[in-house]
Amino acid sequence: MSESVLVAGGAGYIGSHTAKRLAERGYHPVVLDNLSRGHRWAARWGTFVEADLADRDAVRQALLEHRIRAVMHFAAHAYVGESVRSPAAYYRNNVANTLTLLEAMLEVESDLFIFSSTCATYGEPEQVPIPEDHPQNPINPYGRTKLAVERMLADFGTAYGLRHVNLRYFNAAGADPDGLLGEAHDPETHLVPLVLEVALGQRPHIAIFGTDYPTPDGTCVRDYIHVTDLADAHVLALEHLLGGGASRSYNLGNGQGYSVREVIEGVGRLTGRPIPVLEARRRPGDPAVLVGSSDRIRTELGWAPRYAALDAILETAWRWHRDRPASA
Ligand SMILES: NC(=O)c1ccc[n+]([C@@H]2O[C@H](COP(=O)([O-])OP(=O)(O)OC[C@H]3O[C@@H](n4cnc5c(N)ncnc54)[C@H](O)[C@@H]3O)[C@@H](O)[C@H]2O)c1
Repeated sequence: MSESVLVAGGAGYIGSHTAKRLAERGYHPVVLDNLSRGHRWAARWGTFVEADLADRDAVRQALLEHRIRAVMHFAAHAYVGESVRSPAAYYRNNVANTLTLLEAMLEVESDLFIFSSTCATYGEPEQVPIPEDHPQNPINPYGRTKLAVERMLADFGTAYGLRHVNLRYFNAAGADPDGLLGEAHDPETHLVPLVLEVALGQRPHIAIFGTDYPTPDGTCVRDYIHVTDLADAHVLALEHLLGGGASRSYNLGNGQGYSVREVIEGVGRLTGRPIPVLEARRRPGDPAVLVGSSDRIRTELGWAPRYAALDAILETAWRWHRDRPASA
């Protein structure tokens, strides 16, 4: 019988792609999502449980009923700006509800956990590419809630034997190469879908925040990682834990940075459509360059991105945005 994996937040962008990958690899994904920011249409592999992580009984029941072997935890609020304005909602959902999930796991003696962490736990980089042992000094509440969970997981490991993998993503982008899933946040704050919406005429222009950074073209440089490569990394992390592996933290990025202008130009080339640009002032808290080293997961788990090139990331995202059904 295939192992069941609880995918908390699996109706969202990265979780839905990972549920698909789990199913393709012979696992049984059990997607648990309250649909606050996800989509029912995206949860189409395995079993769907509509529940809130705050509902400990529902979570415990899902763990027991489906004989869950491991938990992947994607469910969170994930907008930096919103976290500054509404930190209570972020600590409630990202920290308190994660504690509820972990307590439910302890109750049913479920002890393998894969956590969606973020490069935002590092804060202002002192070194680029950023390695995993870089100091973690997040500069916004979102990053601090994610770091709080990393700390909690370490303590739960020591006290209760829970084993975990923290996956610190850089900028997730791209869409399912089969065209079945894509990025559909509401509101959308990520650069790639925003530029694609400009290409489709759904937005009048794309804003560039800061053109005077110390980078080759003056705009911020970020590390984009294809969502399917993230999904692959989750399966590798799962197999590491199932094989008895110890708790680890891994960066997930391409190791290669692209500037905001390069992304905009890439979309212009790919779509053949004009992309009007509005140059605006820098936003506070945006580092010039955020690029990660993913050497550790490459060496230890044999992960290698399959869609590393920016063009491949943009092409899959474009196909999905262009062809997505009205219901999606
Ligand atoms: N997208 C990125 O570039 C990126 C980068 C770094 C880290 N992350 C992290 O990865 C994870 C997934 O990101 P995403 O872009 O797929 O986000 P998303 O908003 O698309 O998905 C999150 C899902 O969790 C669900 N959810 C939220 N709170 C819940 C609750 N209390 N109970 C049940 N379900 C709940 C939402 O309905 C949504 O379907 C998040 O934890 C995010 O912080 C994302």
